Amino acid sequence: MTTTLNDLNPKNRRAADILIANDRGGYTVPSAKLYPFQWNWDSALVALGFSIFDPDRAWQEVESLLSAQWDNGMVPHIIFWKVEKSYFPGPDQWGTADIAHNPPTSGITQPPVAATVIQRLLAEDVDAHRDRAAKLLPKLDRWHQWFLDARDPDGLGIVAIMHPWESGRDNLPDWDRPLSFIDTAGVGTYHRRDTDIVNEDERPKNNDYDHYMALVKFGRDCNWDTKTISRDCPFWVAEPGMNAILRRAERDLIAMAKLLGKDDIARRAASRLARLDTGFEKLWSDDVGGYVTLDLRRDEYATGLTSGSWLALFAGHVEPKRAGKMATTLSHWLTQVNRGVPSFDPNHELFDSIRYWRGPVWAMVNWMIATGLIEHGETDLAERIRADTEALIEQSDYREYFCPVTGRGGGGSGFSWTASMSLYWASRPTGDVISSPVLTPTTPEQEAK
Ligand code: DGY
Repeated sequence: MTTTLNDLNPKNRRAADILIANDRGGYTVPSAKLYPFQWNWDSALVALGFSIFDPDRAWQEVESLLSAQWDNGMVPHIIFWKVEKSYFPGPDQWGTADIAHNPPTSGITQPPVAATVIQRLLAEDVDAHRDRAAKLLPKLDRWHQWFLDARDPDGLGIVAIMHPWESGRDNLPDWDRPLSFIDTAGVGTYHRRDTDIVNEDERPKNNDYDHYMALVKFGRDCNWDTKTISRDCPFWVAEPGMNAILRRAERDLIAMAKLLGKDDIARRAASRLARLDTGFEKLWSDDVGGYVTLDLRRDEYATGLTSGSWLALFAGHVEPKRAGKMATTLSHWLTQVNRGVPSFDPNHELFDSIRYWRGPVWAMVNWMIATGLIEHGETDLAERIRADTEALIEQSDYREYFCPVTGRGGGGSGFSWTASMSLYWASRPTGDVISSPVLTPTTPEQEAK
């Protein structure tokens, strides 16, 4: 039986009302003031929340996202559907008007969680959604291929990001050192808008922004040419979150392609996945004891684990000994804070419990980590993370993120992906946390069959 808005309990109804309030007609803004356009991974994750009470609207969300795909296959990180001066950097700074289809977009991408979301939307009712999914599969296939062509041209099996914003985890301490080599002399003056809306101690520092803008300038100056970017971009870093989400996306794309009889797509995705599964091991650091960021320009590992490190469990099968070690380290993290999962190692000197991505907890990262934990048999740990997420939202409402020590909310308010994750996962009773069939992690050989 389909759930409608009227069937939702008061808590879930409030979460649904946030999504409805942030709906701009076919796409949803992450937060009305801070992020007034369509963002890539926000949008995909928001579709899961809509799927609880309005499946048609959930499909529209991913359809509008993928409608902005560039000719080269990239799906951009921001789609500027309308003119809105309250956000910086806007279309003029990105300079994509000649490349993007109408409307203008940013020039970079974000973690490709869309295939995983679409697999779940499809699994809810394959017969009802088959045609809509079939139209999106070729777009996902081309986007995933773009990642390997544009961001792994040397065939390492790990994709790079050319800007911290591509990771979606904008201000991680992992970026500090790679960014420190970038010349910001040509950036000029500009007016940040984010700190007009949110406390400065919750946002990146001005020095970080200068580096972000230097990279936007670099991309704009080469007209976002992927060859120039991979060869010359001063920031070229492979990180576990992006790579894990891409691997998971390939697995879910393969599952859908097989279900819908798209054998050519399944074959291409399986071949990409084999390369990515092998390459991912390059991100393992014995020194740090986990999967960490690798600066590909200097061949240098980051010194701390991040919430992205645990996404290796979401990406696919991790052998039991290593998965057990990861679960033990994660459990230890959770003894250092009141509510998990912090976005950065709480024992590290660069941990900052309230500043953007340097410590706070994000609901949608928690969902991905918990999903990976369940798939590796770590159900108690997964349940702790779900309950922590629910408690944080209960305490501080639907904020962008939460302090793992005090539970205080940070960043934007009335935040779409927090509402979506609450509806889809965090406020659901144990045992009902994942509403659609989940793939059993398989090996690439099994997937190729
Ligand atoms: C911002 O403006 O901070 C966004 O996160 C960039 O995507």
